[in-house]
Amino acid sequence: MKIFIAGATGRVAKCVIENLTADGHTVYCCSRHAGDLTETERIKPVNFDLHFNKNEMAEIIKDTDAVYFLAGSRGKDLLQTDAFGAVKLMQACEQVGIRRFIILSSIFALEPEKWAEEKSLQNITNYNIAKFFADNYLVTNTDLDYTIIQPSVLKEEEGTGMIEVDPDHDGSNPIPDVARVLSSVLTMENTFKKVIKMRSGDTPIAAALSNI
Ligand SMILES: NC(=O)c1ccc[n+]([C@@H]2O[C@H](COP(=O)([O-])OP(=O)(O)OC[C@H]3O[C@@H](n4cnc5c(N)ncnc54)[C@H](OP(=O)(O)O)[C@@H]3O)[C@@H](O)[C@H]2O)c1
Repeated sequence: MKIFIAGATGRVAKCVIENLTADGHTVYCCSRHAGDLTETERIKPVNFDLHFNKNEMAEIIKDTDAVYFLAGSRGKDLLQTDAFGAVKLMQACEQVGIRRFIILSSIFALEPEKWAEEKSLQNITNYNIAKFFADNYLVTNTDLDYTIIQPSVLKEEEGTGMIEVDPDHDGSNPIPDVARVLSSVLTMENTFKKVIKMRSGDTPIAAALSNI
């Protein structure tokens, strides 16, 4: 497949791109710093800014089969990047008929009642409002075949390949495990129109995903 990735220079995206290219896909790696990326047979760097308007995005993504939103502003531009940037990309997909949309969100982003309860979420309400805005739009305002991945705290650790899906509380997960979940769900129809919360656990990723 031809796959578009917004946020391609990010920590999670780098692992996702490795997985997708290893699976034989061609990845359009989109970033404001596309010049920093090396073009290969399967990696195509593309200049892209989530501040672009919907029509500009549509023109860039129109020849791809699936879109990943793996970008984020680290709290610096929540409204235009994490919230509206994601929504414009969803609208651009609908405009050009791309149905598959996978978004990297954050645990409990669609459950505001948890934001005060979970210690790790208490100081990131603005971030969660932006993620809620994007996730909620995807679920309620689009007809896309979406999958929303909501991981716990990202850790720069070696992956274990073992996760827990739909935990009651926050936790953490190595970045390679989150990336493996993101790349695995691409063609798994049982994950379409699903929100998947995750943290490290004791179920192999493939088994955990096939049970969704
Ligand atoms: N940190 C955590 O513990 C945690 C937990 C759960 C979920 N998450 C989510 O996971 C996401 C990814 O994390 P990460 O660590 O991989 O991110 P990261 O390393 O900070 O990378 C963020 C990416 O977003 C891109 N970006 C930022 N602003 C942009 C814009 N205006 N237009 C286009 N691209 C833009 C950057 O690309 P360029 O600068 O190259 O354009 C970069 O590739 C986070 O954003 C967050 O929503 C994080």
